[in-house]
Amino acid sequence: MTVARAPRRITVAEAARHVGELVCIPGWLYNLRESGKILFPLLRDGTGILQCVASKAQLPESVFQAIKDLTQESSIVVTGTVRAEPRAPGGYELEVADLEVVQRVPESDPYPITPKEHGIEFLLDRRHLWIRSRRQNAILRIRHEVVKAIRDYFDSHGFTLCDTPIFTPAACEGTTTLFEVNYFDHDKVYLTQSGQLYNEATAMAFGKVYTFGPTFRAERSKTRRHLTEFWMVEPEMAYATLEDVKQVAEELIVFVVGRVLENRRAELAVLERDVSKLEAVQPPFPRISYDEAVRLLQSKGSPIQWGEDFGGDEETLLSEAFDRPVMIDRYPAAVKAFYMQPDPERPEVVLGVDVLAPEGYGEIVGGGQRIHDYELLVRRLEEHRLPRQAFEWYLDLRKYGTVPHAGFGMGVERCVAWICGLDHVRETIPFPRMLYRTRP
Ligand code: 4AD
Ligand code: MG
Repeated sequence: MTVARAPRRITVAEAARHVGELVCIPGWLYNLRESGKILFPLLRDGTGILQCVASKAQLPESVFQAIKDLTQESSIVVTGTVRAEPRAPGGYELEVADLEVVQRVPESDPYPITPKEHGIEFLLDRRHLWIRSRRQNAILRIRHEVVKAIRDYFDSHGFTLCDTPIFTPAACEGTTTLFEVNYFDHDKVYLTQSGQLYNEATAMAFGKVYTFGPTFRAERSKTRRHLTEFWMVEPEMAYATLEDVKQVAEELIVFVVGRVLENRRAELAVLERDVSKLEAVQPPFPRISYDEAVRLLQSKGSPIQWGEDFGGDEETLLSEAFDRPVMIDRYPAAVKAFYMQPDPERPEVVLGVDVLAPEGYGEIVGGGQRIHDYELLVRRLEEHRLPRQAFEWYLDLRKYGTVPHAGFGMGVERCVAWICGLDHVRETIPFPRMLYRTRP
């Protein structure tokens, strides 16, 4: 006696391994096409999109009719046989044997994001639904790959993950971009701008560390590169210099881009990304000084003068000049953060470096060597009018076994925007937070 077994439940991504088998796939209706007595429902399940084929001749009338009546994004469980079909998108299709409707979206209140074009504000207002679309799905899968590659890189290079706090009593990156938080009856508390100061403490405890989490900037910038909440990975190394930072940042970027090329070709294809641009991301990256960068900008017609910080326009010009990320070091001390180590040969510049992504994407990494001398750090805190008492613990690191140390921060969203070839960072995070957007 044979017992009929329930069809195996699989995902769309697994379909290729089940050709000829009767399977069931739970998901949602992405789109429905009709051609005479055959229906072509597109099944979306989060792992991919699979074309299903439902023919009137082979299905009970009620099942065929239920499919015909399906509305976009209705939840469905499709049972059928997987077939290799070169003409189907993706190369496979599912010959429908049965279909269960879990919830049919009513015509009276249809799914708002239709295959037609929508404006960006309309889509951002419906971000909780928009993330279901093929393109957004591809971007966010690449983001996952980037995050995993970053972790794998540090975990396999002797770095210890040391998480840093989000509620912080002190500014790391300038007092003008702090989000203040009500914190019981304590003194002022802010959302962290960077885990760096704490990294410096954990680096003295563990040698090489990294922190990876959300960071916040109250920047009134409405550009394609700015979020108010973004994710940053920040490594920090004891007994290390600016040169070590450049080497690790270069290796990390090459590794991350390589992983995406290795594992996310299909997603890059959905985004129509020119992968030859990513394949060019090989070491060594060009390394230039701030002085050289200023001259290069001036030669391209920029009005920039030595001493000024680079804005979005300068970054775009510079990063368009190279086919791979470019490292720019030794910025004027006056435009950089209080903790940057001055160059002993030229104290008006600091041992800091920015990495600009190519194709006009601008800064993706900022970092360098930190001041390790107690007296100098005290002076800098005063010059920057930072409250000494909030930094006493940080000064302790210069009192008890101080050593040269260095690190950097890499912004996840800017990296993903570059790797995906997007024109704005808002699509690189599931729920973006920007100057005028805190919903949904
Ligand atoms: O250059 P930043 O401000 O450096 C720091 O915060 C250092 N404390 C990091 C360190 O040395 N540990 O920021 C680092 C990176 C930038 O290069 C950029 O990629 C990203 O963080 N970033 C932003 N990304 C999106 N929106 C914003 N508003 C960002 N501000 C910085
Ligand atoms: Mg920076």
